[in-house]
Amino acid sequence: MGRLDGKVAIVTGAGQGAGRGIALAMAKEGAAIVIAEINQATGGSTATEIAGLGLGGKAYAALCDVTRKADIDNVVAETISRFGAIDILVNNAQQFMMPTRLEETGEDVWESCHTSGPLAHFRLMQGCFPHMKAKGGKIINLASGAALRGDKYLSAYAAAKGAVIALSKTAANEWAKYKINVNVICPMVVSEAMKASIGTPHDFYTPLVTGCPLGRGGDAETDIGRCAVFLASPDADYITACVLNVDGGAADLSPLDLAKAGFLS
Ligand SMILES: NC(=O)c1ccc[n+]([C@@H]2O[C@H](COP(=O)([O-])OP(=O)(O)OC[C@H]3O[C@@H](n4cnc5c(N)ncnc54)[C@H](O)[C@@H]3O)[C@@H](O)[C@H]2O)c1
Repeated sequence: MGRLDGKVAIVTGAGQGAGRGIALAMAKEGAAIVIAEINQATGGSTATEIAGLGLGGKAYAALCDVTRKADIDNVVAETISRFGAIDILVNNAQQFMMPTRLEETGEDVWESCHTSGPLAHFRLMQGCFPHMKAKGGKIINLASGAALRGDKYLSAYAAAKGAVIALSKTAANEWAKYKINVNVICPMVVSEAMKASIGTPHDFYTPLVTGCPLGRGGDAETDIGRCAVFLASPDADYITACVLNVDGGAADLSPLDLAKAGFLS
């Protein structure tokens, strides 16, 4: 028996990285997964992987650009029509930015970080709310140590993640009476993008991993995915408005210096 048997989860950006790890971990605990992903190929491959687990796992890959409200409305409607419920929402998709000095950061970067992050989360939370209101639900939003530390040269991204934390706490406060728990994970995860950067001038992996107290990057499924399963399960019924750093200690104990890491001249 799985800890999420009979539950239905929407996971955005589940084609790779933390989203994929969360989708796999939740599917292994019995949840049906709707993968809301802008990349049709990777979204489809996560759905195929879940079907191939041999656990009877149900998964559907919806082509969705979370910056588009119409796509979000479609994902919510499609989830209800296929699975009849939404119990869990994981807002994971987020566009990143190349490290840039604040004074040189364009408004297009600000807009892309905020439209794909807090605005998309806000819309998805609003869309899922009517389906959670009567019976409760679990919402997990992905933020970042960049917001907690105020990482240099990531102004738009860090601000977007700060907004995600504030939005999550407000929703936790307003929706507690409906038994909707809203929590935040700040991960450090060895994603495809991070691995691809090793040895390049934009190596994110080495400074983060060597700087973090636990000395390794997080595994998308066993580290991040398992924490998301916990927050989505009845074991976390008494936890809301919590910001959980799943990052080897990086947010609290190791300042990330992107200039020293060679990102800026
Ligand atoms: N990797 C880390 O160490 C780290 C650190 C702190 C925070 N985070 C946060 O954790 C989350 C996952 O990070 P990751 O490294 O696994 O990301 P990633 O870049 O590896 O994967 C992101 C996924 O989201 C999808 N996506 C991007 N834009 C989208 C859009 N507009 N609509 C739908 N899907 C879209 C991508 O196709 C991809 O599959 C993000 O919110 C990220 O900001 C990651």
